[in-house]
Amino acid sequence: MQELGRLEDLPEDYRSALTAQNLVPLWPSLRAVLPPGKPIPRTKPTCWPYKNLRPLLIQAGELTPIEKAERRVLVLANPGHGLEKMQASSTIYLGMQLLLPGEWAPAHRHTPNAVRMIVEGEGAYTTVEGEKCLMSRGDLILTPTGLWHEHGHDGDQPVIWLDVLDLPMVYYMEASYVTEGKAQPVTSEGSDRAYMRGGVVPTPMFNRAQQAYPMLRYPWVDVRAALQALASSQPEIEAVQVSYVNPETGADCQKILGYSALMLRPDERLSLPARSTAMVFHQIEGGAEVSVPDHSFNLNEADTCCIPGYTPLTLVNHSKDLPAFLFIADDAPLQKKLGVYEVRL
Ligand SMILES: [Fe+2]
Repeated sequence: MQELGRLEDLPEDYRSALTAQNLVPLWPSLRAVLPPGKPIPRTKPTCWPYKNLRPLLIQAGELTPIEKAERRVLVLANPGHGLEKMQASSTIYLGMQLLLPGEWAPAHRHTPNAVRMIVEGEGAYTTVEGEKCLMSRGDLILTPTGLWHEHGHDGDQPVIWLDVLDLPMVYYMEASYVTEGKAQPVTSEGSDRAYMRGGVVPTPMFNRAQQAYPMLRYPWVDVRAALQALASSQPEIEAVQVSYVNPETGADCQKILGYSALMLRPDERLSLPARSTAMVFHQIEGGAEVSVPDHSFNLNEADTCCIPGYTPLTLVNHSKDLPAFLFIADDAPLQKKLGVYEVRL
């Protein structure tokens, strides 16, 4: 490919004349914004072991009262983007949040979509648009764009969860903001019960639900059972994986980021082709080795890692007798809508 002219090849007075008119020559930067063959992601393969993160998060609980933090979160920041950018990938924000017994995070709503994956502790809940969603290890709770939500904790141990947001994307669009509100009355509990069985949906008086987000909590006990049923009913299946979807439409449960759960059978080695999306892996149960060219992470329970897009990877469960369960986040829903999603076999 032809080498292009550099900025320093241009006379100083010409460059100054361009700058004075808010003009920039394209050719010195053309290869950076349109690299040949494949993108050059800033996202670096990065792992955040829970055993290193947890004591620092607990310490944050001692150092900063909830009133001074509002959200007591340590952000899992990708050094490839610069830690100050607070992003795991170009579109994904990850934060580990601590709520202590008796604490309450006030009602609010915001334009970025959020989900929380519960990591540790019992007795906390998120109330979303009046629906009280209880938190247990491995549960996924949605707080989609524009929906009121607040967190409370009636238990006696710290509760920790992983927040996953499309904040970098919405912030980049200059569309990110929050609105504070009053405490919500609880009007319902457990919409997930209505959608517990695949293949049937509620149709009161022959009518289907009209909400954009009819299911807000995906209990781990049900997702785990679905993975085990899939593994036993289809032993030849290439990957034991299920996606978190809107049960009314079958579409991704949120519009920008997508979520799935994967079971690695004992001793299983799974090779995934390079896809255009960066991926986040969070270990719900067991252990898994996540390998990409030049990097390998051994995930233990509650560990989280991020892998850039356009990277082939291998997942291995080294246990001979126990399955491993992973939660996966990526921006495939956004990329598919934009027409840039790609799989390279
Ligand atoms: Fe929030």
